[in-house]
Amino acid sequence: MTYLPAQDRYQKLDYVRCGRTGLKLPPISLGLWHNFGGVDVPAVGREMILHAFDEGITHFDLANNYGPPPGSAEEFFGGLMARELKPWRDEMIISTKAGYHMWDGPYGEWGSRKYLLSSLDQSLGRMGLDYVDIFYSHRPDPDTPLEETMGALATAVQQGKALYVGVSNYSVEQTREAAAILRELKTPCLIHQPRYNMFDRWVEPELLPLLEEEGIGCIPFCPLAQGLLTGKYLKDIPEDSRAAKSHGFLKEDRVGEYLPKIKQLNEVAQARGQSLAQMAIQWVLRLPAITTALIGASKVSQIDDCLGALKASPLSEDELARIETILSA
Ligand SMILES: NC(=O)c1ccc[n+]([C@@H]2O[C@H](COP(=O)([O-])OP(=O)(O)OC[C@H]3O[C@@H](n4cnc5c(N)ncnc54)[C@H](OP(=O)(O)O)[C@@H]3O)[C@@H](O)[C@H]2O)c1
Repeated sequence: MTYLPAQDRYQKLDYVRCGRTGLKLPPISLGLWHNFGGVDVPAVGREMILHAFDEGITHFDLANNYGPPPGSAEEFFGGLMARELKPWRDEMIISTKAGYHMWDGPYGEWGSRKYLLSSLDQSLGRMGLDYVDIFYSHRPDPDTPLEETMGALATAVQQGKALYVGVSNYSVEQTREAAAILRELKTPCLIHQPRYNMFDRWVEPELLPLLEEEGIGCIPFCPLAQGLLTGKYLKDIPEDSRAAKSHGFLKEDRVGEYLPKIKQLNEVAQARGQSLAQMAIQWVLRLPAITTALIGASKVSQIDDCLGALKASPLSEDELARIETILSA
């Protein structure tokens, strides 16, 4: 059967302006780091992407190395675009990145012009796209001049292969410099993609104020701390969870380390009548500097649960204080 998206999909979410740019993003975006690779079940990945789009999630985040194996998430996404989503390309924001190891030799990772532009061509090939909406430098390169890395991003835009550019995992100082260089190159930085969740708050003191000042949007990754900030690990480590998978980046010892806090946070969420995942997403979105929460999912029901965060009552001062007490203990 031919896929037809829900007619009312754009009535379901309030889209958020990305910094002071012209682009609006959904308040929740879907990332394809895990669960969309060659080792995963394609029918489940298909269902999640099509359902997310039906629910108004217009932004899908990829990177050259997502899989495993590296490249397979882009291949999978490209297949879905070709078979089902192509008519809706103009209604979608698709991002990819280059920075981590992708191929052997001196040109297969980090931030040289050679690597970034070759990688973008490969990504476009795997996804069968003429352009991506956002192209990121996935991590700062300590050995390549920032002018070269930012220059490569600007070239991608000039070549028509990317509409906007962003940086990910850049420190405060690196972000400040990158933004200045990109401004000079007339390719302003659209967005920063840092890790941010209740257990990792490095962005709060300086990065978020800088992004607001610069008019750059913010799309925090791992808002659920890879699943720790959900109810799934309260009793044990479920067999189908990320922590149980050998190729996953979440290791079992981290579950044990955070469990006492997870339990207390879950009590706050329960008292609010919502899931811990919903509360964790609301918590990330509480700050005006945050444009959209970049979640991952392994099943459709998780996407629906996360979307429930957008309908819940705001976190009260008391609830925020309680969360603060738990996190700082
Ligand atoms: N720029 C970077 O360096 C970087 C790094 C990491 C990630 N990212 C991006 O951020 C995206 C999200 O990262 P992430 O997957 O780690 O995000 P996350 O949202 O913190 O964790 C997602 C995981 O949480 C679990 N989950 C999600 N919703 C749930 C719910 N409602 N109830 C119970 N469990 C739920 C699922 O785990 P199970 O699989 O166990 O079911 C899911 O795979 C990635 O896909 C990628 O696009 C970027």
